Amino acid sequence: MGSNRLKYMSLSILIVQTTSLVLMLRYSRAVVEQGPKYLSSTAVVMAEIIKISTCLILVFCQENGSIRRLLSILKNEVIEKPMETIKLAIPSGLYTIQNNLLFIALSNLDAATYQVTYQLKILTTAMFSVLMLGRKLETIKTCILNQCNSLQMPSDTTNDKSLPVTNQFIGLVAVLSACLSSGFAGVYFEKILKETKQSLWLRNIQLGFFGTLFGLIGVFWYDGQAVYKDGFLQGYNNITWAVVLLQAIGGLIIAAVIKYADNILKGFASSLSIIFSTIVSYYWLNDFIPTIYFFIGATSVISATYLYSREPKPKVLKGNKVNM
Ligand code: C5P
Repeated sequence: MGSNRLKYMSLSILIVQTTSLVLMLRYSRAVVEQGPKYLSSTAVVMAEIIKISTCLILVFCQENGSIRRLLSILKNEVIEKPMETIKLAIPSGLYTIQNNLLFIALSNLDAATYQVTYQLKILTTAMFSVLMLGRKLETIKTCILNQCNSLQMPSDTTNDKSLPVTNQFIGLVAVLSACLSSGFAGVYFEKILKETKQSLWLRNIQLGFFGTLFGLIGVFWYDGQAVYKDGFLQGYNNITWAVVLLQAIGGLIIAAVIKYADNILKGFASSLSIIFSTIVSYYWLNDFIPTIYFFIGATSVISATYLYSREPKPKVLKGNKVNM
C-alpha cells in the first residue's frame, strides 16, 4: 500500500477512534452502575496485554502462520538485541508518568482548562521535532497559529470555577509536564520507528513489554490491597472492556500514525477529535452549548491541519522499504 494512503488511512482511523473513546468515557460516566468500580490501573495493564497479543498475532500472520518463525524473530530481534529493546523503556516509562500526570491534572482542573492546555503538546511536539528530527522551523509557525486559536476554544460548559488556586496551580504544572513528556516521548518513538529497520508491530511488542511491567508496578503500588481483596478484574463490565479495547486499538493506531504521518499531524488529529466529540455530545448527550469561540477554534484547527498536511516533509526513513 502507498505510504500516502497509509498516512491518511491511519489518521482517519485515529480521529474515529479518539472520538469514540471520548464519547464512550463520557457515556460510561453518565451510566451509574451498582457494585465495585473497576481499577483504572488494571485497565492500563489489560490494554497493554491486548496490544502485545494483537501484535504477536500480526507478526505470526506476516510469517505465514509459522510459530517457529515468530519465536525466532522474538529471539533474534528482542532477546538477543537487549540494547535495541531497552530503548523502548524510555518512551514507555515517560508514557506511564504522563498518564499519571494527566490523572493529577484532571483531578485539579476543570475539564475545559484541562483539554485546552493539554493541546499545548502540539507546541512541545513541534519543538522536539525541530531539535531531534531536523524538521524545518516554518512548520512550527502553523502550530503556533493553531495553538493561539485553540487556546480560545472553551470546549465544555461544565467549567468548575470554584476550584482553589493551589489546585489549579498543581493541575497546570501537571498538565504542562505532561505536554513536555508527550512531545519528547512521541518524537523519540518516531525517531526509533523511522530510523531503524524493526517492524511497527515488533516495536509495539517491545513498548508493550515495558508498558505492562510499569503498569503492574502501578497496580501493586496504588491498588495492591484492593486487588488482593476483590481480584484484578473487579468491577469490569461491558463498557469497561469496550474502553480497554478502544484504548489498546488507540495505542496501535497512534504508533501507525507516528510511523506513516508524524507526531504533529497526530496532535492535529486529536484536536479534530475534540471538535467531533463535542459536536456529537451536543446532539447525543445534550451536555454542550456551542459558542462563537467554538466555531472560531474549530475553523482554525481544521485549516491549520489542512495547511500542515499539505506541506512537503523530508523523508526520515533510511531504507527504501516501508516496514509494517
Ligand atoms: O497525549 P499523547 O498523544 O502523547 O498520548 C499518547 C498516548 O498513546 C499515551 O497514553 C500512550 O500510552 C499511548 N501509546 C500507546 N501505544 C503506543 C504509543 C502511544 O498506548 N504505541
